[in-house]
Amino acid sequence: GVSKKQAQILCVGLDNSGKTTIINKLKPKETQTEDIVPTIGFTVEKFKSTAVNFTVFDMSGQGKYRNLWEHYYKDAEGIIFVLDSSDKLRMVVAKEELDLLLQHSEIKGRRIPVLFFANKMDMKDSLTSVKCSQMLELEKVKDKPWHICSSNALTQEGLHEGVQWLTGMCS
Ligand code: GTP
Ligand code: MG
Repeated sequence: GVSKKQAQILCVGLDNSGKTTIINKLKPKETQTEDIVPTIGFTVEKFKSTAVNFTVFDMSGQGKYRNLWEHYYKDAEGIIFVLDSSDKLRMVVAKEELDLLLQHSEIKGRRIPVLFFANKMDMKDSLTSVKCSQMLELEKVKDKPWHICSSNALTQEGLHEGVQWLTGMCS
């Protein structure tokens, strides 16, 4: 038969935002893991949506590993940027990292989709997706299609919406 569309995606965001937890929930049940530990360096994962086979580079968000992200910009056909919507103090750090990414020579001007998860929506006093987008000044991002969803990776709430959007952009 006709082979499915393939897309290589880069998943970034600060440490503890929930990247690995989100990706784990997107994988087929039988390949999901029980215990999630902070990522060292990065791992490569695969998951499928209705129309696309995704290969995702799940990067560590720890400060000492963030310099690895840029090595995977060139081949990225889409970006998932995960925010901890309950971590107000570090939202400015997330913005700094996002701005560095968006200004990078291998990202700037490329019309690749950027999906934001405002994750941990279940936490007390978590910020709404609208508030997160305001804090990150996403309205200024004009050279790329982007979308932000609130999510709770523990219950999978919001994950499907995000993946459906990314699928539409990649297929
Ligand atoms: P690094 O690999 O260090 O960059 O972190 P990460 O972004 O991959 O975060 P990880 O998936 O390891 O999750 C960090 C912690 O947040 C874990 O204890 C998760 O169980 C928890 N967590 C992830 N998503 C959610 C969520 O939506 N709600 C709540 N309450 N906890 C979450
Ligand atoms: Mg991780």
